[in-house]
Amino acid sequence: MPLVTTKEMFKKAYDGGYAVGAFNVNNMEMIQAIVEAANECKSPVILQVSAGARKYANPVYLRHLVQAAVETTDIPIAMHLDHGADFEICKSSIDGGFTSVMIDASSKPWEENIAITKKVVEYAHDHGVVVEAELGKLAGIEDDVHVADHDAMFTSPDEVEEFTSRTGIDSLAIAIGTSHGAYKFKPGQDPKLRIDILEEIGRRLPGFPIVLHGASSVPQEQVAVVNQFGGSMPNAIGIPESELRKAAKLAVCKINIDSDLRVAFTAAIRKHLAENPSHFDPRQYLGDARVNMKEMVKHKIIDVLGSANKA
Ligand code: G3H
Ligand code: 13P
Ligand code: ZN
Repeated sequence: MPLVTTKEMFKKAYDGGYAVGAFNVNNMEMIQAIVEAANECKSPVILQVSAGARKYANPVYLRHLVQAAVETTDIPIAMHLDHGADFEICKSSIDGGFTSVMIDASSKPWEENIAITKKVVEYAHDHGVVVEAELGKLAGIEDDVHVADHDAMFTSPDEVEEFTSRTGIDSLAIAIGTSHGAYKFKPGQDPKLRIDILEEIGRRLPGFPIVLHGASSVPQEQVAVVNQFGGSMPNAIGIPESELRKAAKLAVCKINIDSDLRVAFTAAIRKHLAENPSHFDPRQYLGDARVNMKEMVKHKIIDVLGSANKA
């Protein structure tokens, strides 16, 4: 089946009380790991591409790799622009075959966020593409997302109806306590999500798909492997999977996971090279990385998102 938008996926996820995983991709092995996992689990899946991924891999390469994924599987796959910073990057992604884009103007003043988002929605909808936008600010640092802890802000339920109706977006990313990156909370901090805010937003926007960014859980066993084989990742904790399961049963239809996949990929490479110091063929260690990442994605689909057998 050709690439799909998230429209139908989200409707089924909302009604079925589960969420679809949106996994960040940067190269062939990552795309294969995610898509093979989703295919074996018979799960819909969203492959998302950040500005950093576009810079690293070239969007044309990524588009063709995703096309290969579509041709070798039989599950619904959406290709999504993650954290589009302005109209131009959204337009270029839409023109380049993405079926979904995020315009992230959440750091801009209210009226400016609405104006940019609306412009993207008009262009996207004219081209059969869906749009995610964000209200509130998540803490954390990735290549192109930098928000200090003290600037992070929960989404206000009082703003969501006006924002969605004035912009015409198809899904809304909210801030309820998740944050980007592998170092979300220090041991001892309370990593609970503001499920009460999510419930209130769900009441204000019945049937409307909600998105959670920054939803990695930072599995300690993977961090331990990284550190056992020469790494030095700090001791940090992520979003508990039990919290994500609650969110997936409510209005959350898309859950973004990147850091956990990176940690799984890197853990396998460090282990492989430490145990096989004479190896120099990238297929050997990248092959292990792909297997470990695939296992991580299967775990998320089956045990956290609840999207297995929903393709
Ligand atoms: O939220 C951002 C994603 O994790 C992508 O990260 O900008 O380092 O590619 P990146
Ligand atoms: P994590 O850093 O928690 O994996 O979040 C990824 C994300 O939100 C991508 O947009
Ligand atoms: Zn994000």
